Amino acid sequence: MTKNESPKPRSGAATGWMVLIGSAVGVFALGLLATTIMERRTEEALGRLTVTNPVDQFESDNAKWGDNFPRQYDSWKATEQMVASTKYGGSKESDHLASNPNLVMLFAGYPFAKDYNSPRGHRYAVEDVKNTGRRSDKTPATCWTCKSPDVPRVMNRDGVDEYYAHKFDHYLEDINHSIGCADCHDSKTMKLQISRPALKEALVAQGKDLAKITHQEMRSLVCAQCHVEYYFKGKKEQKLTFPWDYGTTAEAMEKYYEESGHTDWTHAISGAKMVKMQHPDYEMYMEGIHAARGVSCADCHMPYKTEGGVKFTDHQIQSPLLNVANSCQVCHRWDEKQVKDRIFGMQDKHKEVMHRAEKSLIALHFEIGDAASKGATDAQLEQVRKQVSLAQMYWDYVSANNGMGFHAPQESARVLAKANDIAMEARLAVQQIRMGMGLTAAVVLPDFSTKEKAQSTIKPYVDAAAAKAKAAEAKKTAEAQPAAQPKEVARR
Ligand code: HEC
Ligand code: HEC
Ligand code: HEC
Ligand code: HEC
Repeated sequence: MTKNESPKPRSGAATGWMVLIGSAVGVFALGLLATTIMERRTEEALGRLTVTNPVDQFESDNAKWGDNFPRQYDSWKATEQMVASTKYGGSKESDHLASNPNLVMLFAGYPFAKDYNSPRGHRYAVEDVKNTGRRSDKTPATCWTCKSPDVPRVMNRDGVDEYYAHKFDHYLEDINHSIGCADCHDSKTMKLQISRPALKEALVAQGKDLAKITHQEMRSLVCAQCHVEYYFKGKKEQKLTFPWDYGTTAEAMEKYYEESGHTDWTHAISGAKMVKMQHPDYEMYMEGIHAARGVSCADCHMPYKTEGGVKFTDHQIQSPLLNVANSCQVCHRWDEKQVKDRIFGMQDKHKEVMHRAEKSLIALHFEIGDAASKGATDAQLEQVRKQVSLAQMYWDYVSANNGMGFHAPQESARVLAKANDIAMEARLAVQQIRMGMGLTAAVVLPDFSTKEKAQSTIKPYVDAAAAKAKAAEAKKTAEAQPAAQPKEVARR
């Protein structure tokens, strides 16, 4: 037995001091720990960032960069794994038109009604763009822009404007490497960089100072080079352009496209001039809570990973649902089931609202088509065609997004509600036009419950629209060169 076994009761004041000193030491220790973690990270980063086998900025062979950074390279390569689907995403390819035949109806007359798949890993970008059923010999080179680090290389070699003006097939030999290191990194410092002119131009057009972009912003902007809405400006130039002059919301894009007069195709059923939204992932993300709190795309899609005690950025960009522990759970103290339930809950609700808007839009296309086929004039239908185009643009701003609404659930719901509202107003207006023509029976919608049924339903409309367009084109050429044609024929 020693004296120490029966400790003397401490005085109240002494206890207070102990607690105070104790917590001060604790806080200091925590601070120290945080600092060492940070320092170690920088040290580590610096250590790893020695580029021992220097690569050229326009080196598109990812393996050469990989010699310097095997961990990042191996995880980048892992985007070729197609291991699992999630409820609405994942790395396995799936056919959007089969899972939602409404899309066939909504894109009638446009290649998206023929072939529209979910995205796969970055390693497949080149292969998939070559094989898409939407490609033809008229496809411009611009379509390569978000697929390969060979793009900055050929842009540098041929000139940016020349590159855009070529056809896709012109670069079939030249472009082979799928999305990689040179797309996001500076080769000397490995700092994040923007390799695509369209994003720089769009940011400048919005009055942003490129020199003031923070590192955290760059962790999303590297993705915004490709995961955005865009169009090809100019029939000849085919210049990749983001419609961001007025901002990145659906309203800002409406204003932009309204002013520019740009449209992508004429809807085969309603005859309306339509705009196809691409995948405004970045734009939608910007409206969500995570962007508001400074959480970047890379925080969820490229979390840190530890291997043999080394911490590095996981380059296996994929659905965070396949890696909840490293993505969401770093910041949220929800268990895996809670995280998934939360995400699926948001996604299910999102899908429900989206399908409601689709139903209104499809009915509207048919009602306009019905009125037109029974004698309503283009002048009579001008307003409702404008409305169906606008409503579908709003719907598509949401629908073309990846993530089934997760990135910004409230904004998605708002925009879909607006789409539905515009479509319902137009349905009332077109019913009035039909009534004025003595058409009192409701338009009966055909069966489009599967992809195949939907595609055969739209076929006669698509064929008729194509024949009409061909006739108009022939008339135009005949009018332009009245004398040229007989001569050509005579020579042959
Ligand atoms: C807070 C986390 C978070 C942030 C930030 C985030 N995402 Fe996502 N992302 C998700 C979740 C969750 C999904 C849904 C995955 C699923 O359904 O399997 C998703 C889905 C996707 C998908 C579709 C993946 C698939 O497998 O279908 C893409 C593409 C995508 N996000 C790109 C982006 C881009 C680009 C950014 C930044 C502009 C971004 N994400 C920001 C969490 C995030
Ligand atoms: C889509 C964009 C993108 C691509 C493609 C990409 N990276 Fe990264 N890389 C990032 C981001 C984002 C980070 C995190 C940077 C940060 O916040 O410090 C990063 C970080 C790194 C780092 C710093 C160390 C670390 O792990 O955080 C290295 C080294 C690196 N990448 C190498 C590569 C190599 C090699 C390739 C090609 C095989 C590649 N990256 C492809 C976006 C990309
Ligand atoms: C150079 C253009 C480009 C850049 C940069 C880019 N992506 Fe992608 N991304 C694509 C393309 C194209 C696909 C579809 C590939 C396919 O289906 O073949 C895709 C697919 C994806 C997918 C789906 C993969 C899956 O397994 O479901 C996710 C998630 C994704 N990208 C997130 C990001 C994030 C996050 C960033 C930034 C860190 C980013 N991407 C940067 C072009 C790009
Ligand atoms: C880098 C940190 C970070 C990561 C990673 C992250 N989040 Fe968040 N998340 C936040 C912050 C910060 C908020 C805003 C919380 C607030 O302001 O109260 C938030 C908000 C949310 C909300 C809204 C909460 C609410 O009250 O409705 C959901 C849902 C959510 N996150 C889900 C996810 C999921 C799922 C993932 C993984 C795919 C994820 N988050 C990844 C930081 C993060």
